[in-house]
Amino acid sequence: MPSNFVILAAGKGTRMESDLPKVLHEVGGAPLIAHALRLADSLLPDRVIVVTGYEGAAVAKSAAHWNPEAIIVEQAEQLGTGHAAQMAMPALTGASGDVFVTFGDTPFIRTATLEAMQDARKTRDLVVLGFEAADPDARYGRLVMDGDDLQAIVEYKDADAATRAIRLCNSGVICTSAQRLPALLAQLKNENAAAEYYLTDIVAIARAAGLSAGVVTCPEEETLGINTRAELARAEVIFQARARRDALEDGVQLVSPDTVHFAFDTLLGRDAVVEPYVVFATGVTVESGARIRSFSHLEGAHVSRGAVVGPYARLRPGAELAEHAHVGNFVEVKNATIGEGTKASHLSYIGDADVGAGTNIGAGTITVNYDGVFKHRTTIGDRAFIGSNSTLIAPITIGNEGFTAAGSVITDDVAPGALAIGRARQVEKPGLARALMARLRAKKDKT
Ligand code: UD1
Ligand code: CA
Repeated sequence: MPSNFVILAAGKGTRMESDLPKVLHEVGGAPLIAHALRLADSLLPDRVIVVTGYEGAAVAKSAAHWNPEAIIVEQAEQLGTGHAAQMAMPALTGASGDVFVTFGDTPFIRTATLEAMQDARKTRDLVVLGFEAADPDARYGRLVMDGDDLQAIVEYKDADAATRAIRLCNSGVICTSAQRLPALLAQLKNENAAAEYYLTDIVAIARAAGLSAGVVTCPEEETLGINTRAELARAEVIFQARARRDALEDGVQLVSPDTVHFAFDTLLGRDAVVEPYVVFATGVTVESGARIRSFSHLEGAHVSRGAVVGPYARLRPGAELAEHAHVGNFVEVKNATIGEGTKASHLSYIGDADVGAGTNIGAGTITVNYDGVFKHRTTIGDRAFIGSNSTLIAPITIGNEGFTAAGSVITDDVAPGALAIGRARQVEKPGLARALMARLRAKKDKT
């Protein structure tokens, strides 16, 4: 059954006390809207429509970044969740199958939960995702049931004491037929405590029209919506706990799981080992059997099988390590490929570079990639030997098996197999050290 998504993301998020719209606040290094889009993507939907409003241009830009195919519609005035969904209906014209309406501020819902809703849709015209709220006074909409049938959703503000006592609450996610939703939304009224068009009212509208409605439930943690800074911080904790659990289940060895920080798209292969205190920012892939040693920070990097990173290494965007490469302590790699088996073990900066296989980069080597205005590339061949403390002034090429003497400043290309020395020749003055010291000591004795 094809699916479609309407993601509501027009709200300001007043309680965040922020200039940034709520859905652009981050969990796991990615904005909330990215989490909502990824969930939608996981069902391979026909159409994804994002409803923007407050700071709409910024939200639209972010949404387009995470899903270039997302359709953006505007809700100029925030008149409620039902009104927001109405804004998306023209973009849904002609769609077939199901439509999910989800919120942009709810990052933890699982694909399997939406699949369960799709499954429930086989026997129901409308399905709502519910959960048992731990806090009996939580201000969620209440699901009014009649056996297994959902009768209505009553917003907390509009509920009497008996209805507020219901523990089954509305997560906000609904699923129904894409063809039916516009007609249901068209009947919404705003005669309620908030004077808003509530999406939740479509349940009673559907029931009155003789349609069936049911509920699928999930753990409360999954439906956590973010409204405040405290909830955002709690969401990060939940996110990290989940990411660690998932990594362990996937066969990754986390030596000290609580000290490893994940991003929302971190991918670690089976039998990869992550030592304590490692931070994964976004865009990192680590293949099977690679080892990330303590106190390393990785972002936008790819680490191949058997490679070793750290301790204390920094991989920045565009770092690409081939199999069995070794990037050691206090080595920074940016926008650079490090070939198979190549080692940069200590105290180096490798930026805007292509380094071949089996090469050794000596301690303290620097690729001088920036002239103050432009960036330039360094190319180093296979089996080369870059002596300690070499300064490679890019653009520059060191050929296969090229060699640079320790302490060299290399300004010209080095041919394959050649040895380049770019430093002052050593001179020796016999006895001069002793004579000099004697003179200095004599001077000190006089004063
Ligand atoms: C909503 C539900 C409530 C449910 C709760 C779960 C309604 C009427 N109520 O309430 O039953 O228990 O979520 O967290 O649906 N938005 C717009 N345009 C608007 C209003 C909201 O796009 O005009 C978006 C917001 O950006 C947000 C989402 O819809 O992403 C939810 O809005 P919010 O105001 O947080 O709804 P709740 O009051 O929490
Ligand atoms: Ca909310």
